[in-house]
Amino acid sequence: MTSKVEIFDTTLRDGEQSPGINLNAKEKVEIAKALERLGVTTIEAGFPVASPGDFEGVRAVASEVGCRVAALARAVPKDIEAAARALENAKSPVIHTFIASSPIHMKHKLHLEPDAVLKKAVEAVALAKKSGARVEFSAEDATRSDWEFLKEMAIAVIEAGADVVNIPDTVGYTMPWEYEKLIQYLIGNVPGFTREKDPVILSVHCHNDLGLAVCNSLTAVKAGARQVEVTINGIGERAGNAALEEVVMALNVRKDQYQLETDIVTTRLYQTSRLVSSLTGYPVPKNKAVIGENAFAHESGIHQDGVLKERSTYEIMTPESVGYPKSRIVLGKHSGRHAFKKRVEELGYTLDEAELERAFARFIALADRKKTVDDKDLEAMLFAEATESVATFELVNMQVLSGEDAMALVKLKRLEENGDEKLIVEAAAGEGAVDSVYKALERAVGLEVRLLEYQIGATTHGTDSFGEVMVRIQCGDQTYLGRGVHSDVVRASAEAYLQALNKVLLEQRQDRSEKGGTDFS
Ligand code: KIV
Ligand code: ZN
Repeated sequence: MTSKVEIFDTTLRDGEQSPGINLNAKEKVEIAKALERLGVTTIEAGFPVASPGDFEGVRAVASEVGCRVAALARAVPKDIEAAARALENAKSPVIHTFIASSPIHMKHKLHLEPDAVLKKAVEAVALAKKSGARVEFSAEDATRSDWEFLKEMAIAVIEAGADVVNIPDTVGYTMPWEYEKLIQYLIGNVPGFTREKDPVILSVHCHNDLGLAVCNSLTAVKAGARQVEVTINGIGERAGNAALEEVVMALNVRKDQYQLETDIVTTRLYQTSRLVSSLTGYPVPKNKAVIGENAFAHESGIHQDGVLKERSTYEIMTPESVGYPKSRIVLGKHSGRHAFKKRVEELGYTLDEAELERAFARFIALADRKKTVDDKDLEAMLFAEATESVATFELVNMQVLSGEDAMALVKLKRLEENGDEKLIVEAAAGEGAVDSVYKALERAVGLEVRLLEYQIGATTHGTDSFGEVMVRIQCGDQTYLGRGVHSDVVRASAEAYLQALNKVLLEQRQDRSEKGGTDFS
């Protein structure tokens, strides 16, 4: 047995399956670069056959990072072929193919007998292996499957060439002691897991429906699993997946229990968590373990006194060990490019020169109006750069007559594909200022969408704080996130909406140009 646990991060695949999250290729690359710096072994970047956007996301990540990149595929040839194509530029490609193994899934979802499922699993692994990629096989809903059947399946897919066999708790159903026994049973009865030369890795993947995802993952590691599938901030289908930061810090803080290492640079956990939260629009609860705002806050006098005397009285890990900032760094209008760039990198963003220049110009404009610019202001500003390189529409200005029967006039600049610019002016009436602006923007852009979520807050404390608006809109069956920051909250609302509308247009353009290549049915 090795003394290493591999961290397989599925933030960009299972995490992205959280309701309302839809990351475009640029956002996926930004997160993937942060994950690579964090030290994950594998980044699962998406499900290429699912949509042109997913395909492009996997291809973009595969071209930009050097660590292993995985693509998900059902156990059918067209999925596996799409995954292989999306991974063409990957330095270390991984095809992750899966089929359900539980009676309930085989009967009601697949409508297949166990023998037919086994055959499909073997064929899928053999086909994926032919592409030259590393192959992971997952027995979906493994924890509600017959153990004997699971064992047979694991033996068969290993024979077909699987390098990793994953035993997911797909619906977050298992109890820690059951999972421990299952993992022990498989390790004891599937020779591939313990063979001397190139042992197959037993992987685990836990969902959090009963709040046990992290506990189950750790239990499985204790029982011999050597890959854990996790997401940043625990985002994922339904109640989410096991949180990377919690699994890693438990292995770290309780090394006495596990005697196992990961390659994670724990001092990057906090910034990676913030980046993912910002780009997905999923806030991190204040009391979230390891990286929540209160994770190191000591409220009661007794605790404060204890920590002041000796930190270890109430702290089992230090804030520094997870990259938690000691103090909030503030920049002002006299901060130069160098300080700005350094802070941008510390916040986990990797902008190219042009993006950095644009962000710096925004920063200077903001710093002119606001005494100090802190991390929250910067994050809102950087979101614009990380989310899209070129916006089709820019807001030039707007005028609003507020009240119940409000009227808005918006002036937009449209950037044509040939580089020309065109001014568009539209007006609309609405129920209140924001509604009228949103109607005018939709008219100007030529889209009709549904507003799913509208959140307004302040970037910092104090009277010179800016309004920050986050919107999630729906167009077709996809959702898009937008953010806006401005001293005028109606303007911030407009910018957030326009950013989300620009993302819809970007995706529509990509869909048109990519649809020819792959069958996404
Ligand atoms: O939860 C699950 O079973 C999955 C598989 C595709 C691994 O996400
Ligand atoms: Zn899952």
